[in-house]
Amino acid sequence: MLESPRPVLAILGGTGDLGLGLALRWAAAGYPVVIGSRAVERAEAAARDVAARVAHVAGARPPRGAGNHAAAQAGDVVVLSVPYAAMAETARAVADAVAGKVAVSVVVPLVSPRVAVVQLPAAGSAAAELQALWPDARVVAAFQNVAADLLADPDASIDCDVLVSGDDAAAKARVLALCAAIGLDALDAGPLANAGVVEGLTSLLIGLNRRHKARHAGLRITNLPRPAP
Ligand SMILES: NC(=O)c1ccc[n+]([C@@H]2O[C@H](COP(=O)([O-])OP(=O)(O)OC[C@H]3O[C@@H](n4cnc5c(N)ncnc54)[C@H](OP(=O)(O)O)[C@@H]3O)[C@@H](O)[C@H]2O)c1
Repeated sequence: MLESPRPVLAILGGTGDLGLGLALRWAAAGYPVVIGSRAVERAEAAARDVAARVAHVAGARPPRGAGNHAAAQAGDVVVLSVPYAAMAETARAVADAVAGKVAVSVVVPLVSPRVAVVQLPAAGSAAAELQALWPDARVVAAFQNVAADLLADPDASIDCDVLVSGDDAAAKARVLALCAAIGLDALDAGPLANAGVVEGLTSLLIGLNRRHKARHAGLRITNLPRPAP
């Protein structure tokens, strides 16, 4: 069920591949989206691009662009969508703006050049690191196993489960609803301590794609009761 009024969704690093795909899908679903960037003009250009792509969709809302800090201030839900190497710096720069909010980590702690090998940080996951950087936010981990180019193609149906972990039940429920609102099958994957498993699976998927010369390997959990399609 859609929330009313719909929460403002801020996507920090929303100019990148994954953030832009999420912005497109949520804007098309009628959510107010703020695309964040280190450079306001990049955010505004990305917002114009998404607005043009959703203009023909009934009920869509054009996003707006802002600097990452202003975006975090504006968001009810703050999605951090930057490379792992930039996570801590980006998170520290906006920490005062996220207290009490639902925060979504999509970050996968890949370590170049061996990105197909699981190499998790000492905290157990990027999401756990983010929770430590934003102690007053309610961090939820999601979207680590979804291919950005599928999200960015509004006609693509996305054949995978989104595994959602977090310690705050209400925050997790909100993110599960945000997945459902854009047609993604999402599952409650338990506490934030489980996020490392999900982040690690992305390296497995990268390796499977390479070995099978594929692009969109995805994960499905079997033998669960599912709502009828
Ligand atoms: N791509 C995928 O298929 C995919 C799938 C699942 C999860 N993820 C995860 O999602 C996150 C974003 O992935 P992505 O592919 O969208 O990444 P990306 O395109 O490489 O970067 C996203 C944005 O982060 C900002 N950024 C880049 N370097 C930065 C730095 N040094 N300091 C601060 N900001 C920086 C940039 O925004 P500005 O320059 O505008 O500030 C950039 O547009 C990553 O953690 C990735 O592991 C990606």
